[in-house]
Amino acid sequence: MNAELSDLCVLISGASGGIGQATARGLAAEGARLVLHCHRQREAAEQLLQSIDAPGLVVQADLREEAQADRMFADALASVPRIDALIVNAGIWIGKPAPLHRMSLAQWRQTLNADLTSAFLTCRAFLRHLAAVPRETAAIVLVGSTAALFGEADHADYAAAKAGLVYGLTLSLKNEIVRLAPRGRVNCVCPGWTDTPMAQPYMADRLAMERVFATAALRKIATPEEVANAIVFLASDALAGHISGAIVPVAGGLEGRLLHGPSSH
Ligand SMILES: NC(=O)c1ccc[n+]([C@@H]2O[C@H](COP(=O)([O-])OP(=O)(O)OC[C@H]3O[C@@H](n4cnc5c(N)ncnc54)[C@H](OP(=O)(O)O)[C@@H]3O)[C@@H](O)[C@H]2O)c1
Repeated sequence: MNAELSDLCVLISGASGGIGQATARGLAAEGARLVLHCHRQREAAEQLLQSIDAPGLVVQADLREEAQADRMFADALASVPRIDALIVNAGIWIGKPAPLHRMSLAQWRQTLNADLTSAFLTCRAFLRHLAAVPRETAAIVLVGSTAALFGEADHADYAAAKAGLVYGLTLSLKNEIVRLAPRGRVNCVCPGWTDTPMAQPYMADRLAMERVFATAALRKIATPEEVANAIVFLASDALAGHISGAIVPVAGGLEGRLLHGPSSH
């Protein structure tokens, strides 16, 4: 890839996690200066920054909290003059299955806060920065999920939060960002199952994986790098300068969910 990112600064939320780390490596390889966000795992983000040997800094915030999301940008902008692109990647998935009729309001709120409110607060702080420091181009890449595209039984909290991000935020913000940066772009990557700490416990369940592979043309789990490549592509004006509002599944050709196995009549 020649993404031509060498003059640009990119903030990655959730850079301490699996997809975030791979994205940081991918962006660093293209020359970007990085602001690596973490929540609990500061050490992982610090080690990452050291290992990629790229210019950058680590910022820490619980992105469910308005004051912390705003402070994250203030902390970053104390060290870098501007942020050119934002990767909205932080999120959670509560692995224990919970059909909606048994789901607690506490779980619903926990997921919506961590996956959707955090994205709202992060995007809002970035758009305010664009308003304060006008420029021609800017990019936001949101990390959604195939749960937004196909739903996810027993995880309706996650599917609903990601659908808000994939459809509500991506398709609205692509039309708002151009008022602040005329060539600004907003796109969304929707990973399917990806080999990261979030998915690894579930990936050990062979039958569950067979159900996933039953509707996936490529019959495999993504590596974090495969997801990161799509994020780097969409963040780059040189490569994706005329792409905005795109919702890009990175899911091996997944078509949906296997609902009933052969023996479930
Ligand atoms: N792995 C998959 O199969 C898969 C599939 C579809 C979509 N996704 C999406 O991809 C994104 C990255 O997931 P991943 O697989 O890389 O998971 P991961 O390894 O668990 O990383 C999650 C990241 O989100 C951060 N985070 C969690 N809660 C936060 C909060 N309240 N405030 C700020 N940051 C918070 C974590 O920070 P700390 O670790 O520092 O606490 C971590 O950096 C998520 O949005 C996820 O929904 C993943």
